[in-house]
Amino acid sequence: MQKTQINVGLLGFGTIGTGVVRVFQQNAEVIRQRTGVEMRLTRIADLDITTDRGVTLPDGVLVDDADAVVTDPDIDIVIELIGGYKPALQFILKAIENGKHIVTANKALMAVHGQEIIAAASRARVDVKFEAAVGGGIPVISAIKENLCANRFSTVLGILNGTCNFILTKMTDEGSDFAPVLAEAQELGYAEADPTFDIEGVDTAHKIALLASLCFGTRIDFEQIYTEGITKVTAVDIDFATQMGYKIKLLAIARQGDGAVEVRVHPTMIPESYQLAEVDGVFNAVRLSGDFVGPVLLYGSGAGMDATASAVMGDVMSIGRSICAGAVVQTPIMGYCQDQVVDQPLLPMSEIISRYYLRFTTLDQTGVLAKISTILGQHNISIQSMIQPESHAADSVPIVLMTHEAKEADITNALHEIGQLDIIQEPTCLIRIVNDLG
Ligand code: HSE
Repeated sequence: MQKTQINVGLLGFGTIGTGVVRVFQQNAEVIRQRTGVEMRLTRIADLDITTDRGVTLPDGVLVDDADAVVTDPDIDIVIELIGGYKPALQFILKAIENGKHIVTANKALMAVHGQEIIAAASRARVDVKFEAAVGGGIPVISAIKENLCANRFSTVLGILNGTCNFILTKMTDEGSDFAPVLAEAQELGYAEADPTFDIEGVDTAHKIALLASLCFGTRIDFEQIYTEGITKVTAVDIDFATQMGYKIKLLAIARQGDGAVEVRVHPTMIPESYQLAEVDGVFNAVRLSGDFVGPVLLYGSGAGMDATASAVMGDVMSIGRSICAGAVVQTPIMGYCQDQVVDQPLLPMSEIISRYYLRFTTLDQTGVLAKISTILGQHNISIQSMIQPESHAADSVPIVLMTHEAKEADITNALHEIGQLDIIQEPTCLIRIVNDLG
């Protein structure tokens, strides 16, 4: 019988959960007009059932027992917004066992336990959607899975963490150091009380793991992704980057190589004329390169209650439409049919090719530059440009070199050798440069 009502349950009544309630309440009419069905949020579970979230719920909707959502026979779709691995995984698996479709914003869970969730969903013939897990409100996952699915992708890269982008933008605009800007981001509520996942690049790595899997039809071992956050970026390096016409962004980069996939997350210098370099503040952007469509840049709010709730509700409505049409799962959860997903190795970081910004802190003595450039040359590293500003420090001076493309292993070996020289005063600062976006 044709369904006239879809019932939705929600796990986690935090910021995004509150946003979801607001969409249900404010946009009930447009949801009905666009799905042709009544969609109702019938139950919400959270341990905290007393805090006022500024939204009014009918009696009996808010409960403190997740089982009351995941086992409710009347609920068709469960939204998981608890975050983290446990107990979110257990609740999702139980909901799937009970025949519920899943919508989640949980990138950490999907990046690390995605296979288990997908296997359970395929056994139960239910859908799992996670648009809100990457890029907040930016519809990048559906772009890859639906609109651009005729393309082979060569590259997907982007700025995927609003907190880091806010911090780097402020540091650039104000010449500030990392620590005070992080404190400000926390005060403004952009950074979590424990911002480790954001600033150490882990959140970005979760997101690029998902995007690389979706684009290249491969399982990505998240633990193997080279991940470097922004905690070591200094105002000094941002200033040199600016002088040379670059911005420093925390970039996630994934490329399909020959039999291996390159996936990495690190602070990156991008020419300031590139559109990506203009993505500032808490905004995110993702750039996809498809063989027929060419480059596509998606830009928008990467986090926040309303933008993320928008992505969650898009998934809920899409599943609602499928349920009404009697079609259960139309699009493979990870974009490729499960039997077509292959395990490609990750290219070791030592094998990547990049340009490099190197800032040496050396004694101001005769022959210093010659010693450094000789070692670089011996490791096949060619210098493209150089800055050595006059220094007023007693005896140390910065030397900034921009290299041509070089292999990471050669850079590592050369820097190790240079680090042994007694003229080197501090550890050398390295930032990878991207000129070719693919
Ligand atoms: N903490 C993330 C960010 C938002 O700062 O972008 C959720 O993915």
